Amino acid sequence: MGFPLIRPRRLRSSAALRDLVRETTLTPNRLILPLFFHAAIKEPRPVDTMPGVSQLPVKLAAEVAKNLAGRGIGGVILFGLPATKDPRGDSGLDPDGPVPRAVAAMKAAAPSLIVMTDVCVDEYTDHGHCGVLRTLPNGVVEVDNDATIDILARMAIVHARAGADIVAPSDMMDGRVGRIRRALDESQLENTAILSYAVKYASAFYGPFRDAADCAPKFGDRAGYQMDPGNAREALREAALDESEGADMLMVKPALPYLDVLREVRNHTTLPLAAYNVSGEYAMLHAAAAAGMLDLDRSIMEVLTSIRRAGADFILTYHATRAAELLGA
Ligand code: PBG
Repeated sequence: MGFPLIRPRRLRSSAALRDLVRETTLTPNRLILPLFFHAAIKEPRPVDTMPGVSQLPVKLAAEVAKNLAGRGIGGVILFGLPATKDPRGDSGLDPDGPVPRAVAAMKAAAPSLIVMTDVCVDEYTDHGHCGVLRTLPNGVVEVDNDATIDILARMAIVHARAGADIVAPSDMMDGRVGRIRRALDESQLENTAILSYAVKYASAFYGPFRDAADCAPKFGDRAGYQMDPGNAREALREAALDESEGADMLMVKPALPYLDVLREVRNHTTLPLAAYNVSGEYAMLHAAAAAGMLDLDRSIMEVLTSIRRAGADFILTYHATRAAELLGA
């Protein structure tokens, strides 16, 4: 018998065979598009650092929802840019704020489109941190965990009452999932699910998002609450904690620099698992493609496939609409 005996190339010899044996597939219904609703603009306002992404006026919410549902995209996650900001993020609790209004309009226009909301105060605080601040006796200013989770629970109720299917706390405070679950249940909102940003790293890849959502911290950084990029065991601890506090789904964020962590969490939880392909990951592909360095469409599909292969059931990604087009939806 000649060599080689075993020829893996046999199954790569036609597109139909490759389709038949592909282990990881991508479909638009596993993609969630992040959207930024601005309380004080009348027309879409492009985000300079994110080609193809705009802040949107709330009046467009219904139209956008119908369009996305028509493309077969699974859902959206909403971020808010309020008219006013203060140290406590009070505008985030306003039932007439951009997120609750957009949620209601989208669910009315396209009931089958899953609407998630980002629950965090950084979009609403004037200092841009993900919680309320306090000064310790030694003069250090820190984000006050326990005061913040009360505010997050109230924000989750506002979003859920507006009709959000899923609330997604992204703040990385300790104990917030349990606090939010209890608050929702006490408000007869027991069917609102929680997608916890359980494993969220202090990452440089959020850079463009902070333009899009106008929420860069005015001083310091987020290393006191978001995770250290060197830690993977800690990810399992965070995931297990949020699961025990009642999270319905977990998320790892960012995606590409943390695919190992995504796989590790996948192997340790039975909950549905999401990954957030963040703003910097999106901008990176667009910048490289604009410079003629790589093919944008092919790299989008490869990146999204790699995130699914690493263990994500669904992906939050700014590439959602383009990917859906490429998938022929
Ligand atoms: C916090 C939040 C951030 C992102 C999602 N939720 C920013 C941060 O933690 O600094 C980043 C998403 C992205 O970069 O695409 N509300």
